[in-house]
Amino acid sequence: MNIIIRRNKGDVSIAAAEHIAALIRKKPAAVLGLATGATPLGTYRDLIQMHRDGLDFSRVITFNLDEYIGYRMNLSLPYSKDQSYARFMYEEFFRHINIQESNIHIPDGRADSPEEECRKYEALISKAGGIDLQLLGIGRTGHWAFNEPGTPLDSRTHIQGLSKETLDDNYRLFFHNSGIARQDMPVCSITMGVGTILEARALLMIATGKRKASVISAALEGEITNRVTASAIQLFTGPATVLLDRGAASALKNR
Ligand code: GLP
Repeated sequence: MNIIIRRNKGDVSIAAAEHIAALIRKKPAAVLGLATGATPLGTYRDLIQMHRDGLDFSRVITFNLDEYIGYRMNLSLPYSKDQSYARFMYEEFFRHINIQESNIHIPDGRADSPEEECRKYEALISKAGGIDLQLLGIGRTGHWAFNEPGTPLDSRTHIQGLSKETLDDNYRLFFHNSGIARQDMPVCSITMGVGTILEARALLMIATGKRKASVISAALEGEITNRVTASAIQLFTGPATVLLDRGAASALKNR
């Protein structure tokens, strides 16, 4: 595992964007695993700028980590009223680059059978030849994607209930004028499993800010446990890069 500590959030974002861009330049039809949350926003903005400067996404294939159950992108609503992860990705990244719509994959939170959707998602990842590089953040409960504490480390794409901490954190990302009250937040998700994530050929995990310091130290230096699903990074046998700013790295014993 290669842990890189940068001065601030902006430096982490650009380093992550450069890492992803290097793969796309080497492999124009790269299969990227993508993440939501506030942390990757800067990386997406930097990749959009790189696209304006010539980076080509026309053959890139993407798989997002997760989606809320009951949610699916609805472009007839204003962005503020559509809190799906699909809409987040569309507005913050996809609509600004030349990716083909058919190459974008996000679990459908409104599928008739969420169980079937999970199976289909795994099959689509396999059909694409697996994920070349998976971008990851980390949640306050130490989770990857929506793999809350207790999720088996060999889990596949599955339906996952969300913890109070995760809902509290993610509600902050909902638009204030979304019309959705905290108690009406979706409490379930479809998420890639930890085992699915560990099958990617490379991992790129990013975290910024002091509030991530304790989960980062638990995940990178603590016990490998499904109480902190991101600690599975220690089991990963391929190349794993962790990009942190000084705040997120501040509790690492070996920094
Ligand atoms: C959600 C997402 C995770 C993300 C986490 C942290 O739970 N499902 O993929 O890593 O939020 O988000 P943030 O970057 O906003 O701290």
